[in-house]
Amino acid sequence: MKLLHVVGARPNFMKAAPVIRAGRAKPGLEQVLVHTGQHYDRAMSDTFFADLELPEADENLGVGSGSHAEQTARVMLGFEPVLDAHRPDWVVVYGDVNSTVACALVAVKKGIQVAHVEAGLRSRDRAMPEEVNRLLTDQMAHLLLTPSRDGDANLLAEGIPAHRVRFVGNVMVDTLLHLRARARERRMASALGVEGREYAFVTLHRPSNVDESQPLRELLGSLDDLAKRMPVLFAVHPRTRKRITEFGMDGLLERVQLLAPLGYLETISLLDTATLVLTDSGGLQEETTVLGVPCLTARPNTERPVTITEGTNRLVPSHRAAIGQAIESVLAARQAGGFRPGQPEGWDGRAAERIITALTDPM
Ligand code: UD1
Repeated sequence: MKLLHVVGARPNFMKAAPVIRAGRAKPGLEQVLVHTGQHYDRAMSDTFFADLELPEADENLGVGSGSHAEQTARVMLGFEPVLDAHRPDWVVVYGDVNSTVACALVAVKKGIQVAHVEAGLRSRDRAMPEEVNRLLTDQMAHLLLTPSRDGDANLLAEGIPAHRVRFVGNVMVDTLLHLRARARERRMASALGVEGREYAFVTLHRPSNVDESQPLRELLGSLDDLAKRMPVLFAVHPRTRKRITEFGMDGLLERVQLLAPLGYLETISLLDTATLVLTDSGGLQEETTVLGVPCLTARPNTERPVTITEGTNRLVPSHRAAIGQAIESVLAARQAGGFRPGQPEGWDGRAAERIITALTDPM
């Protein structure tokens, strides 16, 4: 049997790595790795391949940046001949980026089975490009591998037959548990002069937060407020970097410690010892839940509700005063003895094994 894994953007890499590793342990299973090149900078791509022990991609489509239509179309055009050349039994797509939906569409039209890892998540906000990618990929894929039980419920409610849905748990957690010790060895807090101190770790990159000046100004204002009481370490995504410059907002960041986009191990190292995290990332909501670090997510909704009901996550509006209040309440709760979250079902480090079983055993 042959699996063809597709990765394209930063959040795909940590999901594919454990599945490819689990696949290697299966005798007779052939695997091909295709990188669409949606993310291409060293900091957004190569560093992750090294940190995550991903094999070099067999094919790189080199699509780069562009509008949604351009990027999606370029992935589809580049992927078709690659698929013809490799003729896999399964195309395995991950998460919700443009590369995910583009490759799923090419494969299903060619009659090749598609498996979607991280299926069934829903924010119910179609203004979010990832929500459209999730909905369409799940409608097309033959096998829907869900990270949490809400994923199963969402898919069944959309009329997807139960035999296509398989609950496997969260592969991001496989990666986190596999690499946590190595991440700690990076001692990023020490390298950045905050070891043993309270500090906040921040990432922001959603178009809805950074592409318009008003929400970005509110968010950066809240970082300035917070930086008056503890060091704020902000890893700046290229999209956000561009907008800050364009809107002339560097002045709001004078008290904030700006970092270039970090690798996986550096990120986990900093998350692990943070007092609190402010983000709009999907992955960080999950990682903070596993690490037991309070997380404020600057979004009106989340496709990962178990991080709220069973984890450390809380949604906050992208509004300076509201974020300030939420920070106060996180710090007060911490003072009062903290918060011991549970771990969602299937977030146990074995999700990739279950995925390989689902792909290789007849259903
Ligand atoms: C993409 C995903 C998003 C994910 C994010 C993680 C989609 C629709 N969005 O958003 O779900 O959370 O990745 O990072 O697929 N750029 C660089 N170097 C790179 C890549 C991008 O400088 O290696 C800059 C370019 O200016 C580009 C911009 O970032 O135009 C946005 O990149 P793009 O891949 O379109 O979307 P992201 O915002 O990264």
